[in-house]
Amino acid sequence: MKSSLYQQLLNKSTTITIIGLGYVGLPLALAFAKYFRVVAYDINESRIAQLKQNIDPSREIASSQFLEKDIFFTSNPDDIAASKIYIITVPTPIDVYNLPDLQPLKSASNEVGKVLKKGDYVVYESTVYPGCTEEDCLPELIKENKFRLNQDFKLGYSPERINPGDTQHTLEKNIKLVSSSDEESLEQLTKIYSQIVTAGIHQATSIRVAEAAKIIENTQRDLNIALMNELALIFDKMGINTHDVLEAAATKWNFQAFSPGLVGGHCIGVDPYYLTYKAKKVGYNPNVILSGRYVNDGMGAHVAKKTMQLMLKQGKTIQNARVLVLGATFKENIHDVRTSRVVDILHELADFGVCVEVHDPYASQEDFRRYYGFELIEQLRSDYDAIVVAVAHKEFTDLEEDFFIKHSSSNPLLIDVKGIYRKKIKKLLYWSL
Ligand SMILES: NC(=O)c1ccc[n+]([C@@H]2O[C@H](COP(=O)([O-])OP(=O)(O)OC[C@H]3O[C@@H](n4cnc5c(N)ncnc54)[C@H](O)[C@@H]3O)[C@@H](O)[C@H]2O)c1
Repeated sequence: MKSSLYQQLLNKSTTITIIGLGYVGLPLALAFAKYFRVVAYDINESRIAQLKQNIDPSREIASSQFLEKDIFFTSNPDDIAASKIYIITVPTPIDVYNLPDLQPLKSASNEVGKVLKKGDYVVYESTVYPGCTEEDCLPELIKENKFRLNQDFKLGYSPERINPGDTQHTLEKNIKLVSSSDEESLEQLTKIYSQIVTAGIHQATSIRVAEAAKIIENTQRDLNIALMNELALIFDKMGINTHDVLEAAATKWNFQAFSPGLVGGHCIGVDPYYLTYKAKKVGYNPNVILSGRYVNDGMGAHVAKKTMQLMLKQGKTIQNARVLVLGATFKENIHDVRTSRVVDILHELADFGVCVEVHDPYASQEDFRRYYGFELIEQLRSDYDAIVVAVAHKEFTDLEEDFFIKHSSSNPLLIDVKGIYRKKIKKLLYWSL
């Protein structure tokens, strides 16, 4: 009897290829490489060069995690031809109009389509709108080979739930959603993923259900934060501190804890737009979701305007005022500056003639300049008219009031986007979202 795909992987008579080695693909490839032979493919040659030296360019995974793994890193598409299962973990960004940009997904599908063989499996892990795998990716896979789904090959979808910078909710410890194009392949994929996910597998009833489940997880979070941000806008007009309100409300047994803030990153600020795109395509205008996005996307400009308003109140002029922004990455304790909303604060301040300086212990100078045209500074001055703490890096959370006074001109102002210094600041003019 022919052995199953799972058995072939286990006895290493075949390989599994992971396509796209970023936040999602790399930990997945390394996890499978404990048990199976893995081909880890990425189009970015410099990324592959670093991975070959056991360096994760996203700096999420320690070098020690690369040891004793059966893994082959490559940027050569010929190297993926012999695998029997392909897992695609490429980015799903949005364009300047906030519409899904499926280019990476389509080109990866094309690449796999070229080497697809009868009996192969293709699984997508990228976050997409319901229907995308079957309506947009499948046609790319079969464009040239004219294979028939389920007769010639199987198609699966299994979204990822990792959270950059979070060492608790790792791939292994999150229940994994798995879906597939037929019963047999669903059972195989369940076995294959069970090998690495200790938290368990949930078999979704269809690929569309799994796609929809993933997209609503992040949409729900986006909307919950949007509500907090809207409350912060309202309470600001009323002179009430939102964090004080949330602390009081959280004493109710069923109050949900969320806090206001900038919503950057590749997921929460992006995924809802995939859903709203599809919703409009099927004839529904998703007002609630889009309103949330509108509120969240406007928070950087709000923080900047508030900074300028309070500087005026302190008797300062806006033109050529010096403002220090602490934090540039899209969230705390990570290195990635892509999709950071801190940049909205910088642009808004700079548009009004403010001299803005940015310091971040994690962000790369080169990346920040390349993506946004702003320089990062190392040496802090002692005459800032305002200091904005935009990201709650652990290096910032313990700073004392004296630190801010030391780096400020007269009539100092501290803007605390995340509310981390609340109750600690006595002498400075203090504002938080
Ligand atoms: N970052 C997260 O926390 C997270 C969590 C869950 C789901 N996701 C989803 O997972 C997907 C991947 O996100 P990510 O954060 O890992 O992205 P990433 O930007 O960190 O990495 C993606 C990698 O794919 C590579 N790539 C792009 N096009 C390719 C192609 N055609 N062939 C081969 N490689 C290609 C890039 O060079 C890059 O190394 C997205 O859909 C994202 O929404 C991300």
